[in-house]
Amino acid sequence: MEKYVIKGGSPLVGEVEIGGAKNAALAILAAACLTDDVVVIDNVPDASDTNAMMDAMRSIGVFVEKTGRHSVKINASQITGKVIDTEEIKKIRASYYLIGALLGKYNQADVVLPGGCFIGLRPIDQHIKGFTALGADVRIEHGIIHAKAEKLRASHIYLDVVSVGATINIMLAACMAEGKTIIENAAREPHVVDLANFLNSMGANIRGAGTDVIRVNGVQRLHGTEYTIIPDQIEAGTFMFAAAATRGDVTVKNVIPKHLESISAKLKEMGCEVEESDDAVRVVSTKRLNPTHVKTLPYPGFPTDMQPQVTVLLGNAGGISIVTESIFENRFKYVDELTRMGANIKVEGTVAIVDGVERYTGAEIVAPDLRAGAALVVAGLMADGITVVDNIKYIERGYEDFELKLQDLGAKIDKVDTDKEVQKFRLKYA
Ligand code: UD1
Repeated sequence: MEKYVIKGGSPLVGEVEIGGAKNAALAILAAACLTDDVVVIDNVPDASDTNAMMDAMRSIGVFVEKTGRHSVKINASQITGKVIDTEEIKKIRASYYLIGALLGKYNQADVVLPGGCFIGLRPIDQHIKGFTALGADVRIEHGIIHAKAEKLRASHIYLDVVSVGATINIMLAACMAEGKTIIENAAREPHVVDLANFLNSMGANIRGAGTDVIRVNGVQRLHGTEYTIIPDQIEAGTFMFAAAATRGDVTVKNVIPKHLESISAKLKEMGCEVEESDDAVRVVSTKRLNPTHVKTLPYPGFPTDMQPQVTVLLGNAGGISIVTESIFENRFKYVDELTRMGANIKVEGTVAIVDGVERYTGAEIVAPDLRAGAALVVAGLMADGITVVDNIKYIERGYEDFELKLQDLGAKIDKVDTDKEVQKFRLKYA
């Protein structure tokens, strides 16, 4: 199984280009199924989750052609089945966007329940509430969600929790429903806005995305489009934190600084310099980080997908920090691994009390999920000695060329496949 081997201690210096947003791409790929015309999407990250989504779409007869590493041509006019129960689809959680898309297009969808990272219970009651409000009959039988409607009709839906997935799924199902659907307490994440822009470019009539009330005026049909996906907020944030973690100086390019404000604000509190320009953010760190408190919240709050990364940094800060996870109840699993590297972190429910230690020491650790995996790599970059991170398939779900981008910034990191290669790396840096 592939692993990352890392020799810590090198400050990251230079420039890094951020790719397209994985979470926007997953929604937009599914949304492309809403039309029978050709759709061209650019800036699709070459990560295993987006590739799995494309495989899942192919498995139901969608024509999906990669015309370049980041460009995809889609034609969903020949969808063969609405019953989707393939191995491809089970691999990713966002496959449930195909329910919204197929229900919106054909008034029927039967899709196997999603997988994804095990960071909490992840119920889908708000998705079901939305589909039902639009007039669908929804049942779950033998692990498959069956949604069917005579005709979808607009509705006024108040979400009980701010859910990115439910907001997206309801937008997908509602854009060709009769009348005006109103989603209250909607998620405001950048990828929700990106999906709305994409759907509008296909002829949908969606207003208010980016606020907590989204209005979807149903249209008769959607047409083909060509669209470029926004940069990935979390990939950018991870590199910003990696720069701060290693007392580096990194310019993170091709970003939307507005999307990074909560991340930049935390870095400033921790004593880093953050300089913003039109489409780049430079992070400079010269000293031991200050402790601070963090609570994850829906956008524009501090993202839960950056929680492991911030905790890793605070684990070496000069004092005690408190990190509160308010979105997913099981998102501190990586702390056990960090403890093996010398961290002093106590988790009580959804709160971590982080007592900063002078330094981490390299160890053999395992990535428990996507973002925690990336955070553990950052810990390896900070640590004395050599760290081996196993189970990197999780990291590859959401980061394209992670180790190559880090190498370009001066990190000593390799992707290896065998114990012999691990030994070779150890000898090289002994
Ligand atoms: C999406 C992102 C994920 C990110 C998360 C929060 C994608 C593919 N994934 O996940 O990276 O961490 O947003 O920003 O975009 N909830 C319910 N009922 C529901 C749906 C959600 O109670 O029907 C709860 C969840 O348990 C969680 C909270 O709402 O506590 C937020 O979840 P949600 O925003 O739906 O996350 P995802 O869309 O799964």
